[in-house]
Amino acid sequence: MRNDIERVLIDEVVIEKRLDAMALEIERDFPSGTLVVIILLKGALVFAADLLRRVPRSLEIECINVASYHGGLESSGTVNFLDRDFPEVSGRHVLLLDDILDTGRTLHAVSARLIEEGATAVHTAVLLAKDKQRAQEVSADYVGFEIRDEFVVGYGLDYKGKYRNLPYVGVLKDSAIT
Ligand code: XMP
Repeated sequence: MRNDIERVLIDEVVIEKRLDAMALEIERDFPSGTLVVIILLKGALVFAADLLRRVPRSLEIECINVASYHGGLESSGTVNFLDRDFPEVSGRHVLLLDDILDTGRTLHAVSARLIEEGATAVHTAVLLAKDKQRAQEVSADYVGFEIRDEFVVGYGLDYKGKYRNLPYVGVLKDSAIT
């Protein structure tokens, strides 16, 4: 798996330091009381596990399955909600976690759905944000790292379902892309 990586973009130690700082910001910014955290599967799984263990407050953790990439290198342009049920968020303050902000369609669609479902406020946190013109005007409240517009894997991000368990964010070799 590691042989397929052309270069490491953000290594494990750097990610861990940044998560310490993000957790402090989140802890400082949110009003007291239990916060509902929604993790977008599967990409935000690793980021969420490492971030949330650093946030010393009462959290209710929910997951939503959405798909927009369908395993390849390009967003399909539509965001599909894959679950039959949706978490109960009416009257709640929600923190939405995703792995990466790319076209903006996912955060836009899920934030809109959360508001539709009655959430009082929705804040968003992403590990990565691509520096690009987005299809949807959306920004995240908490961003781990800004990266240039290239396809990355690792630390939760996949190519065709693989590489999510790499402990760093990296760029694939051309030979690994089929
Ligand atoms: P949008 O375009 O909706 O993208 O902001 C969010 C979702 O698209 C996936 N994505 C990527 N996955 N490497 C990946 O493995 C990438 O460089 C990449 N860019 C976008 C990801 O699932 C994210 O939640």
